[in-house]
Amino acid sequence: MAASSATEEIHEANVRYHDLAAARYDVKWGIDFGERGQKQVSGKLRKALGESFGPFRRGLEIGAGTGYFGLNLRQAGAIEEYTATDVSQGMLDVLDESAHRLDIDARTACCEATRLPFPDASFDLVFGHAVLHHLPDLDASFAEFMRVLAPGGAIAFCGEPSLYGDKIATAPKRVAHALAPAWRALVGASAAARNGHHQVAEEGPLERIVDVHAFTPAALAQPVRRAGFQGVRVSGEELAASLFGWANRALEATAEPSEVPWIWHQYAYRGYLGLQALDRALLEPRLPPAVFYNLLVAARSPSA
Ligand SMILES: C[S@@+](CC[C@H](N)C(=O)[O-])C[C@H]1O[C@@H](n2cnc3c(N)ncnc32)[C@H](O)[C@@H]1O
Repeated sequence: MAASSATEEIHEANVRYHDLAAARYDVKWGIDFGERGQKQVSGKLRKALGESFGPFRRGLEIGAGTGYFGLNLRQAGAIEEYTATDVSQGMLDVLDESAHRLDIDARTACCEATRLPFPDASFDLVFGHAVLHHLPDLDASFAEFMRVLAPGGAIAFCGEPSLYGDKIATAPKRVAHALAPAWRALVGASAAARNGHHQVAEEGPLERIVDVHAFTPAALAQPVRRAGFQGVRVSGEELAASLFGWANRALEATAEPSEVPWIWHQYAYRGYLGLQALDRALLEPRLPPAVFYNLLVAARSPSA
């Protein structure tokens, strides 16, 4: 397939997949716009940027989805003005509803990361969460981020899948599949109907097209440096928490969602938070970024 038609196919798949996912996205991922969500995203931005952590006047989000990152950063005061972009109008419609409910002034634009409809030097922070791995042309994307950033502005991208972390996560998923029948008997849930009620049948095949990259730290830093950014930092987060989280999600996916008891969700959620704290305190300062499940990258555009 020629490069441009592959890029076009990935674009179309992303639009379709995320339009289909939009209505259930916040529930599926447990997205919170209260104090908990604000604390999560501020922590990630601080981890990505290190000492030079905002606040920033004009924030532009790439692949904003339903606004998990940007709406929470705006509420936490890390950005003063919020512009959200995405290729999926369905996701942006949900973001608009949440912004209205939260009384946040958010500007939205449905566009490609490589073709941002904004003048040069019009933002102080360009950021994103779980979006770079969907972008087929990272060089063109980072060149475009550089164009719209003011001199001395910052980029910060969090929640990107790490190549080794992804491989490590297959172990708990395998164990969970083997234990699933015993687990369902324990919690009193029946097996999920074939194809599950919680995933539209069309989503499965699209999922394999939209996930374009899983990164090593070096591979994530390269297109950022090639675009001319300075002070490139790559860090990693979540190891114990992601092993626990993936095992639980794999178990839950085998059961009828309505039959998984509340007490299980409480255990899974509280356990995850506890292990995140353990990762932060013990593992993240000591282990190389490559072994973590998520990678974060941050850098600065050269000053004028
Ligand atoms: C995994 S979702 C993450 C959404 C949100 N950032 C979050 O963390 O909840 C990835 C988002 O990137 C968007 N996206 C995919 N390809 C894109 C592209 N080429 N340009 C801009 N956005 C894109 C998708 O439509 C989707 O909303």
